[in-house]
Amino acid sequence: MRLTGRTAIVTGGGSGFGAGIARKLAAEGAEIMVADINPEAAGALVSEVGGLAHTVDVSNADSVAEMAAAALAAWGRVDILVNNAGITHLPTPMQDVDEAEFDRVFAVNCKSVYLTARALVPAMTDMGRGSIVNIASTAGLSPRPRLSWYNASKGWMITATKSMAIELAPGGVRVNALCPVAGETPLLASFLGEDTPQMRAKFLATIPLGRFSTPEDLGNAACFLASDEAAMITGAVLTVDGGRCI
Ligand SMILES: NC(=O)c1ccc[n+]([C@@H]2O[C@H](COP(=O)([O-])OP(=O)(O)OC[C@H]3O[C@@H](n4cnc5c(N)ncnc54)[C@H](O)[C@@H]3O)[C@@H](O)[C@H]2O)c1
Repeated sequence: MRLTGRTAIVTGGGSGFGAGIARKLAAEGAEIMVADINPEAAGALVSEVGGLAHTVDVSNADSVAEMAAAALAAWGRVDILVNNAGITHLPTPMQDVDEAEFDRVFAVNCKSVYLTARALVPAMTDMGRGSIVNIASTAGLSPRPRLSWYNASKGWMITATKSMAIELAPGGVRVNALCPVAGETPLLASFLGEDTPQMRAKFLATIPLGRFSTPEDLGNAACFLASDEAAMITGAVLTVDGGRCI
């Protein structure tokens, strides 16, 4: 129960890695808000592990402000923020990704980090404490072809993490990033392009530990970074990648 008495928002918490993170934070005693654009998914997870379900579009300023207000009204403070919601374009030559899709990827994967910071950092620095965990990707460290704009959005998130960490350190707020390798979530099929045994084998061949990452792997790593066990860790970019980026 490393997070007893702590409160945590997990964006995109209704599915995949976000659900694994929300489950782990709740199991370690945190009060959680599962914030997702899909109300059914958020509601289902909360009925399983408890907490608050909240419908949010993390790319929309008013919606993020409402999410922050709801959490602060319920708890009086937010100790942990996990910026996990993210999307991708399909594997495509870079010049063929249409402009609306490019804008959507950057709004959900990048602008959201700015919006949640604007909505929640003031309350954290007032309290003199907070932990933000950004879910980036190995795509931001060691990009694959045909996912260029998704890769770049995750590179942006890694730089944002370091910049936030240095600026917020005097206020007692730690900011770290996790870089998962391809994981067993509903998003995997989009990265693979075609979810065939051959394509899975091709991806697995690049992961020295020989398996995809799981929501449990991400839950364990996020829990560590969010907890006081990581009290001296900020600006870290931790790969959860079975050795893929070595
Ligand atoms: N699965 C992978 O292979 C992989 C690898 C590296 C990094 N990641 C990153 O991990 C994070 C989670 O991905 P996942 O694989 O669990 O995906 P997922 O599709 O299983 O879950 C994403 C969740 O985010 C929600 N969401 C989407 N857009 C949203 C929005 N605008 N506002 C609020 N919620 C929104 C979805 O409803 C869904 O519940 C993403 O940031 C992704 O880029 C995934």
